[in-house]
Amino acid sequence: MLDLGAGTGAVALAAARCGARSVTAVDLSRRSVAVARLNARLHRCRVSVHRGDLFAPVQGRRFGLVTANPPYVPAQTSVLPRHRMARCWDAGPDGRALLDRICDAAADHLLPGGALLLVHSGACRADVTVERLAASGVVAEVLERVRVPLGPVMRARAALHESRGLVEPLPVLRHQPSNPYAPGPRDTAAR
Ligand SMILES: C[S@@+](CC[C@H](N)C(=O)[O-])C[C@H]1O[C@@H](n2cnc3c(N)ncnc32)[C@H](O)[C@@H]1O
Repeated sequence: MLDLGAGTGAVALAAARCGARSVTAVDLSRRSVAVARLNARLHRCRVSVHRGDLFAPVQGRRFGLVTANPPYVPAQTSVLPRHRMARCWDAGPDGRALLDRICDAAADHLLPGGALLLVHSGACRADVTVERLAASGVVAEVLERVRVPLGPVMRARAALHESRGLVEPLPVLRHQPSNPYAPGPRDTAAR
């Protein structure tokens, strides 16, 4: 299996523990590569970790399973950050800078009958991912949609995403206590 954007290597290590015969992890960040290698050693997992841009380090190779939790947060500009944490999440104005590249190249890296597991936000449109994969010959479907509270990065960008129509405005609900004089919680619904 191949894990793209491996970060700390959590997914790659889990795959190794689940019995994957061969596990390859790729990340662009030097630090991530170092940490993933360290984690593999600490947890005694056989994971081959490479530094590079998406599929570049595995050119010409095919896998039975490709996983990716790539950067997908819509950002102010199309310039992708080259350093630090923002590289983990910024993905151009529509959040699809890396997703589109993964969709376009996936077919060339899957074995017959192989699978791609890709996670991203509703803000960068799963239907576009499905169509883009189909255009390159990969039949895809949305397996699961999970609603989770916005994390700090998405919360900080909520106004930007709303102004671009990428997400619905966040409803703010107010709990009305039966005793109007009693203090009540103020809830914010998660998207
Ligand atoms: C959202 S994090 C995911 C980390 C880990 N897979 C996880 O699920 O916890 C995205 C990762 O993609 C890496 N990344 C960003 N651009 C990349 C690129 N062009 N090629 C490979 N990895 C990239 C970042 O360094 C970061 O580690």
